[in-house]
Amino acid sequence: MSDLKLTAVKKSFAKTEIIKGVDLDIKDGEFIVFVGPSGCGKSTLLRTIAGLEDLSAGAIEIGGKMVNNIDAAKRGIAMVFQSYALYPHKSVYDNMAFGLKMNGIDKEESAKRIQHAAEILQLDQLLDRKPKQLSGGQRQRVAIGRAIVREPDVFLFDEPLSNLDAELRVEMRVQLTRLHRRLNATMIYVTHDQVEAMTMADRIVVLKDGRIEQVGSPLELYKQPRNKFVAGFLGSPKMNFIDAVITQCDCQHTQITLPGGVSLSVPKYSLVAQVGDKISLGIRPNDLIALDDSQSTDKDFDIQIDVSEHLGGQTIAYGSYADQSLIIELDKDFALKDQHQIAVKLPVEHCHLFASDGLSFTAAQ
Ligand SMILES: Nc1ncnc2c1ncn2[C@@H]1O[C@H](COP(=O)(O)OP(=O)(O)O)[C@@H](O)[C@H]1O
Ligand SMILES: [Mg+2]
Repeated sequence: MSDLKLTAVKKSFAKTEIIKGVDLDIKDGEFIVFVGPSGCGKSTLLRTIAGLEDLSAGAIEIGGKMVNNIDAAKRGIAMVFQSYALYPHKSVYDNMAFGLKMNGIDKEESAKRIQHAAEILQLDQLLDRKPKQLSGGQRQRVAIGRAIVREPDVFLFDEPLSNLDAELRVEMRVQLTRLHRRLNATMIYVTHDQVEAMTMADRIVVLKDGRIEQVGSPLELYKQPRNKFVAGFLGSPKMNFIDAVITQCDCQHTQITLPGGVSLSVPKYSLVAQVGDKISLGIRPNDLIALDDSQSTDKDFDIQIDVSEHLGGQTIAYGSYADQSLIIELDKDFALKDQHQIAVKLPVEHCHLFASDGLSFTAAQ
C-alpha cells in the first residue's frame, strides 16, 4: 500500500516558516495535484515528502509507516523535476540503468524494466541516443522513464512540463494521465498551471502561503470554491467578481445591490450577514447569459465591451459594467453587434457570494 498521510507538517528555513501546518490524506493510487501561485511552498512540501528536506514539525507516513527519519532513498519514492537532469554523455538506456545499478539491481532485471518503461513511454527506438539528440519532450520522457524503472510506490512530479512548448505540454499531459492509469501508482504532481490541475487530478490541493486553501475533485472545487482565492484561481477565463452590498436580509429573502443600482434576490444559503455588509459576487464568464434582445425584461445590466477574442468555437469578450471589469464567454453564433454593448442576465443559481474576509456564503464550508 502506498497511501500517504501528512499530519501538521511544518517546514521553516532559518526563521521563516514556509509550510505552516499541512494535514492531508492521500489514498493509494490517487493522482493528487498541488497547485498554487509561485512561491506558495509547493516544491518545499514535495521535497519534504521526498525526504530531500527535513521536517520542522509534524509527521509524514507512507503506507502506514512513519518516514520522518527515513532517508530519501529508502522511502520508495521517485521524483521527476522540471529540469530533466540527464547525464549528457550517457545514452538513454544508460541514463535509465544508472540508478538501478547504484541500487544493486542485476543487469537482466534492469534490462527488463528499461524495456518495459521504454515501451510505455515510446522510447524503444531512442535507447541508443544521447540526450542532446532528443527533443525536449523526449528528454522529459527519459526523466520519467528513469523514475518508472525504479518501481516506486509513489511518484512525485515537480512542474515536469514547464519547459515544454504549449503543444507538447498538452500532449504530455495526456500521456501522464495514461501513465497513471496504466501504473495505478500514487502520484503527486506539482504545478502552478490550473489547467493542468483541472485536467489531470483525481483531487486538487490548492495551496497559498504554505497553507491548504481547499482539497477536492476538480469539479467540486470549480463548483463549490470555499473562498474567493480558490474561486479566482481555478477556471479559465477567471471568475468575475462584482462589488455588492446586502440591502435586505430577513428570514424571507436576501437582497443584494450591485453598483449602478441593480438589485438581485438571492437564496438564503447559510448567509450570516447584515444589511450594509459589503460582499463580492462571483460569476464565471460562461455563466453570464448574453441576451439577443437588448431590451429584454430578463436583462440585469449591460456590459460595455472593449476587446473580443474570436476563438472559433466561442468568443471571449472583455469589458466593464459600472467600473467593474467583466469577462463574458459568448456562443460562437452570438451576434456581437457594432455598438459593443451586451445585455446580460445574472443567473442567481450560478452566483457565488463571498464575505469581505473571502469566505464563501454559497459553498458548503
Ligand atoms: N532552501 C531554501 N532556503 C530558504 N528559503 C527557501 C528554500 N527553498 C525555498 N525557499 C523559500 O520558500 C518559499 C516557497 O518556495 P517553493 O516551495 O519553491 O515555492 P513554489 O514551488 O510554490 O513556487 C519561497 O519564498 C522560497 O524563497
Ligand atoms: Mg516550485
